[in-house]
Amino acid sequence: AETFDLVIAANRLPVDKVVLDDGTVEWQRSPGGLVTAMESVMAGREGAWVGWTGQPGDEADAPFHNEGIYLRPVALTADEIAAYYEGFSNDTLWPIYHDVIVPATFHRAWWSAYEAVNRRFADAVCEVAAPGAVVWIHDYQLQLVPALVRAQRQDVRIGWFNHIPFPPVELFAQLPWRKRVLAGLLGADFLGFQRVADAKNFVRACRQLGGWQTKGQNVVVADPPREHRIVRAAAVPISIDTQGLAELANRPETRARARELRASLGNPEVLMLGVDRLDYTKGIRHRLKAYEELLDDGQIAPPDVTFVQIATPSRERVEAYRQLREEVELTVGRINGNHSVIGAPAVHYIHHGYPREEMVALFLAADVMVVTPLRDGMNLVAKEYVASRTDYGGALVLSEFTGAYHELHQAFVCNPHDIEGLKNAMLHAIQTPADQKRRIMRALRRRVMAHDVQRWAARFLADLTGTS
Ligand code: G6P
Repeated sequence: AETFDLVIAANRLPVDKVVLDDGTVEWQRSPGGLVTAMESVMAGREGAWVGWTGQPGDEADAPFHNEGIYLRPVALTADEIAAYYEGFSNDTLWPIYHDVIVPATFHRAWWSAYEAVNRRFADAVCEVAAPGAVVWIHDYQLQLVPALVRAQRQDVRIGWFNHIPFPPVELFAQLPWRKRVLAGLLGADFLGFQRVADAKNFVRACRQLGGWQTKGQNVVVADPPREHRIVRAAAVPISIDTQGLAELANRPETRARARELRASLGNPEVLMLGVDRLDYTKGIRHRLKAYEELLDDGQIAPPDVTFVQIATPSRERVEAYRQLREEVELTVGRINGNHSVIGAPAVHYIHHGYPREEMVALFLAADVMVVTPLRDGMNLVAKEYVASRTDYGGALVLSEFTGAYHELHQAFVCNPHDIEGLKNAMLHAIQTPADQKRRIMRALRRRVMAHDVQRWAARFLADLTGTS
């Protein structure tokens, strides 16, 4: 088998397998921030990517090359998708790691499936890793893989990056398998987190729940036959392909499309925009509530103001996601029923994704970008909006519960639980004079331009290989 010096492992491959009605197979770009970021990191490198195709199967598809990357599919059966992916990853870990916005569900059978699938990923990684390779494992779905790889391969460097938050010890403590998750992660040489607080939460969990000795950001692991091994945890906040987005935003076609979009919305004075996976962590209901109250109070009204909410479908077989969809759609219906005028809906709600080109045009068209998560590891959409505003226009309303807030605190900051505060932040973003908004955007852009995804990857790899 082919082997590589750099191996990525993530639950999803960068492309999803889509089987059309006539049986033909198409590969489409996978959703989410992880793929967005890693796709551009891998564009300039040679390496392998181990991941799931998004389809059920008893046997893995054959490995293949896609845009220069060697993709090594891992098979998940329909039962494993239900237990490992929808179950343990997204109905147990996801809620715990996001402040228990919805309660977590615990099933021992889900944990067994998580272990079995993590073992399969580790085996696939070992198969494609060249001697001395760098192995970069991603996210909460694969927390046991670091130790499982180390058990087979002492010659490789193992890093793990968490794209989502790492919970406070009081919440992590709920997890019946907490110590085994920590032990799985401690198989790595280096663990990267979005925020300093996430790295601290992890180290504290090791100390308080696992009994490991810790020194600052380091965890000491007794690892026979060696006396001990140091595992380092640090904040390495992820970013985006800033340059690529800026170039796209500067194209005349994109500018023209932005004008066209505004025109098709009736050239409102204020176009507000939300772009999220349809996830309860994103604060979409809070955002709509605040917007609805502003309409109820008569502080804004269509056709002067309109709101476009793009909600990309996500994890649709998990109950909490179905419920959220129902609530959002009910709310949108009510708001439109009460406040739309013919030809000028108060909310444009779209339940599907768009290609990058269209997204950048929308970002350019939007006067106010509303990013209101209740908890979010980073939120790349906030950074994408800023990167796209090469014209220094627009305004960003940003929740303080995102990783992005820690870099973009000049934005119109809000606590989405505080509906009055959120309404004020939205109004403030609308009413602040243009020259002041430009100054703010300039400051936000400086940060995002200087810290792009290539710099993030270089920093992670330098930390991992000890060359920083
Ligand atoms: C987040 C997670 C990713 C995940 C993505 C999409 O960004 O950090 O690991 O891939 O959401 O979610 P999905 O469940 O569709 O992979």
